[in-house]
Amino acid sequence: MTPGPTALHFSEATSHDMFAQRLPHSKDDSLPQILAAAVTHLHALIRELRPTQADWRKAIEFLTDVGHASDERRQEWVLLSDLLGVSALVEEINSRRPKAATPNTVRGPFFRADVPQLALGSNISLDGIGETVDVSGRVQDLDGDPIANAEIITWQANAQGFYENQQPDLQPEFNLRGSFRTNTDGHFHYRTIKPCGYGVPDDGPVGKLLRQAGYPLRRPAHLHFIIKAPGFETITTHIYDSSDPHLAEDAIFSVKPDLVRSFERQGEGATTWRLDVAFVMVRARQGADT
Ligand SMILES: [Fe+2]
Repeated sequence: MTPGPTALHFSEATSHDMFAQRLPHSKDDSLPQILAAAVTHLHALIRELRPTQADWRKAIEFLTDVGHASDERRQEWVLLSDLLGVSALVEEINSRRPKAATPNTVRGPFFRADVPQLALGSNISLDGIGETVDVSGRVQDLDGDPIANAEIITWQANAQGFYENQQPDLQPEFNLRGSFRTNTDGHFHYRTIKPCGYGVPDDGPVGKLLRQAGYPLRRPAHLHFIIKAPGFETITTHIYDSSDPHLAEDAIFSVKPDLVRSFERQGEGATTWRLDVAFVMVRARQGADT
């Protein structure tokens, strides 16, 4: 008589194997493998930390709070992923661009997809508060050829370090956001204000947890950009202000040397600034997301 599969009894040593054994073994479906790997690591963590039932209830309450803090204006799950370095790690694994191309960074939690389309030269500072910056840039391919009609989506914090969707009662809707198209030379320009660095939100469950653990929550001053053009990989990136003292301790691990730029004064003692940027796109691989 052929013996059946070895019966496992649930114990500290066998818990993850018992879970994995119940999953189907199909090469065509990655979900069972992902679940088995996730549960193996989770059970190892539980064995290492040995939480009490009260500790584990606290962990469940934290995750519940993260869900409750998320809505269409605020994404606390993205913040958690960003602050744990997971978003940056996923980006590193998936972004294998030539050195000359603009690197991707994480999108962050303050992006809005419903951003208004604006004419080149528009001012995205709708309340006029802050020091003016004239941004001019170009979008090109790896050979230096311009990419016309590329879409540039930008968003940034104000001079106090807040995004409009953090302050819906204080800032005009879509303040410091806009979408532009490059002209036939691959150029674009618009007017904005100098952004301020900020502490990531610490009024929600994620910020409270990390603050309690003594984790630094600063982000250096930056502009966010997404650049899209047919036939090219979409770029999601930041441009950082080189004068910010917190460049080396970005809370979400997104500062890369190629993305740091100087804001230049538009004259001696002037409080208006100029910023030049260039984005270098890579042709999309067949079947890859653009
Ligand atoms: Fe940001």
